This record gives sequence, structure tokens and C-alpha cells, in this order.
Amino acid sequence: MLKICVCVSGGGTNLQAIMDAIDAGTITNTKIVRVISNNKNAFALERAKSKGVDAVAVSPKDYETRELFNEALLAAVKESEADLVVLAGFLVVLPEKMIQEYKGKIINIHPSLIPSFCGTGYYGLRVHEAALERGVKVTGATVHFVDEGTDTGPIILQKAVEVLSGDDAKTLQQRVMEQAEWKILPQAINMIANGTL
Ligand code: GAR
Repeated sequence: MLKICVCVSGGGTNLQAIMDAIDAGTITNTKIVRVISNNKNAFALERAKSKGVDAVAVSPKDYETRELFNEALLAAVKESEADLVVLAGFLVVLPEKMIQEYKGKIINIHPSLIPSFCGTGYYGLRVHEAALERGVKVTGATVHFVDEGTDTGPIILQKAVEVLSGDDAKTLQQRVMEQAEWKILPQAINMIANGTL
């Protein structure tokens, strides 16, 4: 049984997709042991609690320095005894120590086809605004392992999504989530859980 710790910052629709896929049996051999958010008010925490999943907030606002927050975050992850950490819309730069200790054991979902529209400053809606500004006709999402860089780790899965005329950042974000993110993140977890990666 693969034990996963899911880290979230906001609405948690990707977390929901993971929980739904476990319920539906499209992710097998997997248990969510903890959900961690840097934002106490993240709706994702409510989603976890309503499923009876252990949900904790580790907010930088509660720590005097970034180092203390980093230590608390790593401690919360370690305490979960997870085999895999899943960043599902986690908008925090991970502590280097965590990246080193969990090498090959952290995956992230990014809402573009890496290497387009990724790296520092590209997160959430901003990614889709940049895609529209550039005028690409195809975008998508990427699941990748996390290394020391920003969105630079080995790619696990990608899925393309068409940009439609009349799209704004919000409609594009929604389509990328529905057609790509909510599919490839559960799929990647299932592959890792069942040794088919
Ligand atoms: C998702 O679109 C995810 O790909 C993105 O944040 C959103 C979170 O939505 N992540 C990044 O931009 C990371 N660079 P959710 O809370 O509804 O899953």
C-alpha cells in the first residue's frame, strides 16, 4: 500500500480528483495518510476532513522565520510516514532539505506543457495568462518529479489541451484541469503505487 501525503494551498480540486479516483478504484493500492496546507483557510482542508483524512495547516504566518516554517513543514511530512509526497497545487518553495531527503519521492502537477510557461513566477492563473499572451493553440498539464529547480525534474506524464478562441485565463484553467490535471495526476499516482512507471 502506497502511503501518500498531499500538499495543497487552495481549492483542492486536484486533491478531490485523487480522492475520487481512490473511491472509484482507478487508483489502487494507495492511501492518503495526510493532507498539509500552508493556508489555514484552504478549502482543500475541508475536502480532506469531510473524507475523514488527517488534515493539518502549517502556515508561515505562525513561524518567526522561514527556517522555522521549513522545519515544521518537513516535520509534518515526516510524521505522516508517507512513501510519496504529492504537490497538488502547493504554492510553496520546498525546503532544500526536504527535496534532498525525499529525492524521487515528490511529484508535482503543473498546469502547462513543461518546458513552456513554467519556472519561477509561473503558477495558478498566471500560467494560463502567459499561454494566452503568447497565443499558443495547444497547452496542457505535466506531472513531474520534484528536484532542486523550479519545474525542472523528470517528466512522468503530460496531456495536451486545445486553446479555444474566446478563452480567458479562467476558462482555459478550467479546461486544463478537467481534461488534463484531474486525469494525469491520479494516473501518475496509480503508476507509482503499482510499480508500472
Ligand atoms: C492547479 O491548476 C495546479 O496545476 C496549479 O495550481 C492549481 C491548484 O488548483 N499548480 C501550480 O501552478 C504549481 N506551479 P486546485 O487547488 O484546485 O487543485
